[in-house]
Amino acid sequence: MDFTLIKKGFFEKDVVQDGNTFLLGNGHIGYRGTLEEFAYDKLTGLNLVGVYDKCQDKWRESVNTPNPFYVQIFDSGGKIDPFCKAILDHEARLHYREGYYERKTEYPNLIVSSTRFVSVIDRDCLYDRMVFKAKEDMDLTLEFGIEKEIYEINGPHFKTSESISKDGCSLFFGTTNEGKTLGLYAQYPLSKGEAEADSNGRHRVGISLKKGETLTLTMQAKVYEGSISEEELVPFDRAFDLHKEAFRKQFDVSNIIIDADDPSLQETLSYSIYHLLILGDPDHARSIPARGLSGQTYKGAVFWDTEIFLLPFFTLTDPKVARRLIEYRIKTLEGAKAKANEYGYEGAFYAWESQDDGKEACSKYNVIDVLTHQPVRTYFNEKQIHISADIPYAMDRYIAYTHDETILAEGGYDILIETSKFFMSYASLGGDGLYHFKDVIGPDEYHERVNDNAFTNYMIEHSLRIASKHLGMDICDKEHQKYAQMFAEFADKIYLPKPNAQGVIESFDGYFQLEDLTVPEVRSRLRDPQDYWGGPNGAATKTQVIKQADVIALLALLPNRFSNDVKKANYDYYFPRTEHGSSLSASMHALLGLEIGEEKQALSFFKDSASIDLKGATKLFAGGLYIGGTHPASSGGAYLDAIYGFMGLTVKEDGELEFHPSFPEGIFSIQATFTQGNKKTTYTIRKTNHQYQQEANEYHD
Ligand code: IFM
Repeated sequence: MDFTLIKKGFFEKDVVQDGNTFLLGNGHIGYRGTLEEFAYDKLTGLNLVGVYDKCQDKWRESVNTPNPFYVQIFDSGGKIDPFCKAILDHEARLHYREGYYERKTEYPNLIVSSTRFVSVIDRDCLYDRMVFKAKEDMDLTLEFGIEKEIYEINGPHFKTSESISKDGCSLFFGTTNEGKTLGLYAQYPLSKGEAEADSNGRHRVGISLKKGETLTLTMQAKVYEGSISEEELVPFDRAFDLHKEAFRKQFDVSNIIIDADDPSLQETLSYSIYHLLILGDPDHARSIPARGLSGQTYKGAVFWDTEIFLLPFFTLTDPKVARRLIEYRIKTLEGAKAKANEYGYEGAFYAWESQDDGKEACSKYNVIDVLTHQPVRTYFNEKQIHISADIPYAMDRYIAYTHDETILAEGGYDILIETSKFFMSYASLGGDGLYHFKDVIGPDEYHERVNDNAFTNYMIEHSLRIASKHLGMDICDKEHQKYAQMFAEFADKIYLPKPNAQGVIESFDGYFQLEDLTVPEVRSRLRDPQDYWGGPNGAATKTQVIKQADVIALLALLPNRFSNDVKKANYDYYFPRTEHGSSLSASMHALLGLEIGEEKQALSFFKDSASIDLKGATKLFAGGLYIGGTHPASSGGAYLDAIYGFMGLTVKEDGELEFHPSFPEGIFSIQATFTQGNKKTTYTIRKTNHQYQQEANEYHD
């Protein structure tokens, strides 16, 4: 398999989705898979991780910079682009093993090809090379440079900006509303002809081409945060070779090889791994937005998605990146403390939607009523307290695997202490002498402000035990030891909802009393297909239909806490009552399904999770607002399913790896490589005649 996604033909209706499907990225910059001919209204985007801005009273969101690869093409008859000229042929390719994009478009008189990549060598740089080949003698004019108009959801983010073009180069510098300076420097060498700069910061070249003759335009750009410098950029060919080699190395070590009778398993999983790889930045303590680098959806904010669905991939394949993701939570601890304080609690209450400063970015009104168009009050930010337990959970798993205990002294202990303090101050002591967590929201966001959500209570108890374990180590000082004891004693008294006589754990207090409807029944009650299912008056709110894996997620994340009978009872109960209205749902069902022998269904959930961005069958707009983009948690979930589900990896407390495989029918072998310290080991599990064989070999590039 050569790990190339090929799409033939040009379809206007796919323009926005193609921007996601062919997305390039390097953990710092995302560049959407649009054509150079496209203006900003086709959702072109150069999205930056970690740079946010607030315009007036709109939502604060990540910033898109202007597009340095905007090229308008003209012949003597006028403009040539897919919207005004017939396209005879078009093909786009994403080479996801080497991290680059190519396309070839045949217009009646001209063939336009381009090759583009976002460098993993210099993560501020991106490159594009276009070749124009005349099919007949023609006069070709190109206008190119930095397009100042930017596609933005809640902009404009540049309060002031300036563009200059001279000597085949363009400069853009702008200051955001929050006073950040961002710059873009781009060079545009041409194979022939000389471009003239215009006062708009763009270049223009006119040239006569003979039939078969070509003109090459190379575009190399660098993004600056702070002051800009007109430095010589590494030329395209050299940068491309270095990039491809580095990307291929990281892809090969991260990829999972599946031998199965259905080839789509390999294709979708490897494509998902590509979408994870383009999010990792080993150099900065930044995290990963819920829609990755595909744009400003969800304000470019970081959710629990990172810790629960993405961190395991980076921990196993590139622990340096995993450490950066945890460092981000250390860096934003002050924001979490400020949020706890704002709501009258102690310790650290992490933002449900976190940006660069860790302050809460989640608004109080997240959805719009489809009929009245009025904003609907939601409580995601105030009540999804499980986020402060998900972070210690993830950090503990990182430490168990890497043995990197240095992260604790560098801020990890503070996370454990402050999140535990937060939970102690949030809890209320019940008449049963146990601590309860009232007025919360679990992963199922359709039921807001519930009491004793099982996922939340168990994860909190688990996180306090983690805190107690790490703070109670012999090497810890007296103060930490005291905390360890206090947290353990508190954890002993947390109310944990137990399975009922049928083995089912009630999702939250009173859930079993709600109207017991099926998902189609609730769907039939929607006032409009875009109607919100949850909130105060949603069709699901007073029923047992839930949005996404909740108790199921709990059983999948803490598998040792529950018997197989309980897992099966809960899977059978919640599966038909789950809408899967979130892309985070399928992978958790696959994980749990594999544990209880529901392999066929698990395979189907795995496929849903792995293929989400390849199929692109998700909602793109809601009430005119673009909500699409890539779905990293779904890609990360597919990785989890393959490693923890199919291969059955268990990381023991001492970091030792054990495998308890369960392959759905039609899978014959799986191979994955894990990095531990300086060692990379490839594990292969084969299934023959219902027997599994395991092999471990040192990995070589
Ligand atoms: O974090 C998720 C949440 O669980 C469901 N809504 C979307 C968020 C971002 O992916």
